[in-house]
Amino acid sequence: MVYHFGEDREHKALADHEIMEEWLVPVMQAMAEEVAKDGGDILEIGFGLGVSAEMLMDFVPKSYTVIECNEVVIETYYNPWKEIHTDKNIRLVKGLWQDTIGALGQYDGIFFHTYPLNEDEYLQYVNASITFAEHFFSHASAHLKPGGSFTYFSNEIGSLSREHQRALLRHFSSFSIRVISLKMPADVTDTWWANSIVIVKAVK
Ligand SMILES: C[S@@+](CC[C@H](N)C(=O)[O-])C[C@H]1O[C@@H](n2cnc3c(N)ncnc32)[C@H](O)[C@@H]1O
Repeated sequence: MVYHFGEDREHKALADHEIMEEWLVPVMQAMAEEVAKDGGDILEIGFGLGVSAEMLMDFVPKSYTVIECNEVVIETYYNPWKEIHTDKNIRLVKGLWQDTIGALGQYDGIFFHTYPLNEDEYLQYVNASITFAEHFFSHASAHLKPGGSFTYFSNEIGSLSREHQRALLRHFSSFSIRVISLKMPADVTDTWWANSIVIVKAVK
């Protein structure tokens, strides 16, 4: 999504399309398959509209935990969603993942989809990184069971740069990628422009 300088998205009420645009739905589906197809204990970072959460539940995980910092997102999207899954083992951890993940255990699958919340995060996580998710690699590795998998999408179109691969291999034993074809709308307001995007599955 486009970041407007000076914005603070940790608590801000955002429109649906500002949280996630429709063209990302097939990307969410592919990522959900990568981490949840064998069930197990799943951790998601960032609830958003709950699109990926619902896809993860289709794989009937043993447990589903989500970390979400935005109270408006929790009230508008998470609380009603939780009501239709009262029979499932679901846990919400409120707050920034940076402040909360240390108290959590280990998971079979970790699904990572956040965005920069403020200017400092944008400069650090976007401008000064190989890929946005890089700042989360060490945390994902620390909270994965051996053989567990971590997924995110990369800002690359058809492969991974060598630097990106090296960064992954500093924290994970192996990785695989999938190129997802996209149908980009003419009126896209996000920063993405290409007809494909890469998703990564990294294995501890
Ligand atoms: C792009 S949305 C996730 C969309 C989701 N995958 C879906 O399918 O609807 C990103 C979410 O991550 C949350 N978020 C961003 N940074 C976070 C952080 N540091 N800790 C916890 N949640 C965060 C945002 O509030 C937002 O709800």
